Amino acid sequence: MSLVSWQVMGEALEFGLPMQDIYSKRVLDPRYYTDTQVLEQERDCLFAKGWASVGLASTVKPGCARPTQLAGSPLLLTRTRDGSLHVFHNICAHRGAQLVPVPCENQRHLTCPYHAWSYSLSGELKGAPYLAGKKGSSIPQGEDKGFGLQPIRHAVWFDTIFVNLAENAPAFSEWIAPLDDQLNPFDSPRLHLISATDYTIKANWKLVCENFLDAYHVPFVHNQAGGPETAINFADLELSPDIFGFTLPQGDADKKKPEWLFRLPLPPELEHAQFFFYLFPNTLVAITGGWFQVISVQPTRVDQSDEVLGLYAMDNLSERNSEAAQEFSTIMNRINQQDVDILPSLQAGRRSPAAGKNALAPFWDKTIERFLSRLEKALLEFPGPSTADGNKSP
Ligand code: FES
Ligand SMILES: [Fe+2]
Repeated sequence: MSLVSWQVMGEALEFGLPMQDIYSKRVLDPRYYTDTQVLEQERDCLFAKGWASVGLASTVKPGCARPTQLAGSPLLLTRTRDGSLHVFHNICAHRGAQLVPVPCENQRHLTCPYHAWSYSLSGELKGAPYLAGKKGSSIPQGEDKGFGLQPIRHAVWFDTIFVNLAENAPAFSEWIAPLDDQLNPFDSPRLHLISATDYTIKANWKLVCENFLDAYHVPFVHNQAGGPETAINFADLELSPDIFGFTLPQGDADKKKPEWLFRLPLPPELEHAQFFFYLFPNTLVAITGGWFQVISVQPTRVDQSDEVLGLYAMDNLSERNSEAAQEFSTIMNRINQQDVDILPSLQAGRRSPAAGKNALAPFWDKTIERFLSRLEKALLEFPGPSTADGNKSP
C-alpha cells in the first residue's frame, strides 16, 4: 500500500467549485485509520520528532510521580519537593523494567519492582542493593550519575507539558512563538486548573484531532454550544505549519455568562471570541476570555485513543466557589463526552469499502485538509515500512 494515498474527489464537482478547489477536496485513504503499521510509522515520524504533549503540569504535585506515555513510549513525570518538574523515560537504568506503573504521591524515592534499585525524584540513582554481591549498594560516590533515569527534553506552556523524544526539534520557544503572539492578550499565569479528566475513545487519534478542527459538527453534536448561525462565522487561522485552527469571533456573544465566571478584561474585538488551535501532532487548545481548555491525545491502538481534558478558569474558581467549579467542569465535560460518543461511528465507517469516497465539505473543512496535508508531509519524510524482501518501500 502506498503510504500516502489521497482520494481526489471527482464527485466534488457537484459543489460547483473551480477546478483547483475541487482538487483540494481530498480525504485520506481509510487504511490510515485501521492499519497498525501506519500507527507504528506515526509513532516514529510524528510523535517522536516534534513537540508532543504528555500531561498537565499542575497535576504533578511535589513528591508525586505519574507514569504517562507518548505513542507507546513509557514516560514518567515527577516533581521534587522544591517544585522542579522532571520528565524521564519510565524505565530502570538496570534491566529496563518499567519503574513506576501507577501514579504515586508523597515519595522521596522510587524503587524498581525488579531488583530494587532506587532513584530520587530528580532521577539520581540512590541505591542498588547487593550490587557487588554483599550488603550495601556498592556505588562509588560520584559514579552514580550515569546510572540515573534518562531525562527527556521538555517544556511547560499554559500548564501543558510538551516533550521532544528525538531531542532535535527546534527550540520550544521558537516553535510556540506564533501561538504565544496570538494569545498575548490572554494571561497564562492566571490559569487555574478546575479539572483534569481522562477519556478513552474508540477511534483513531487522527479522528479525534480532525473532530476538534471541525466547526461544522458543533451546532449538531453540541447544540447547547450555539447554533449554525454562530458556527458559520468561523475564520480559519494558520499560524505556522504546525499550529492552526479557527476562531469564532462572536462565539461567546450569545451565551449566558455565569456571574461566577471571572472574565479577563480584553479588547472589544476579543471580548466574545473563541479560539481553537491544533498543535501538531497531538495537542488541542481552546481559549476564551473566561476559560482555557487543553486536550492531549495519545494513540493506544490504531482504533483507540486516550486523552486528558484539562479545564482552567482565569482565576481560582475552585477555591472561591467550589460548587461553581464543579458545575463548570460538568458542563464542559458533557460537551467532550458528546464527541467521545460520536467518534466511534467515524472509526466504524473507515472499515467500509466505500470510505475512500468520502468528501470534505469545501466551506467548512479547510482546517481538516490542512491537518491531512501536514500529516502527509510528515509521513513522506519517513522512509516507509520494510517490505518482505527487507527493502524499504518508497
Ligand atoms: S531492572 Fe530495575 S533494578 Fe533491575
Ligand atoms: Fe465537538
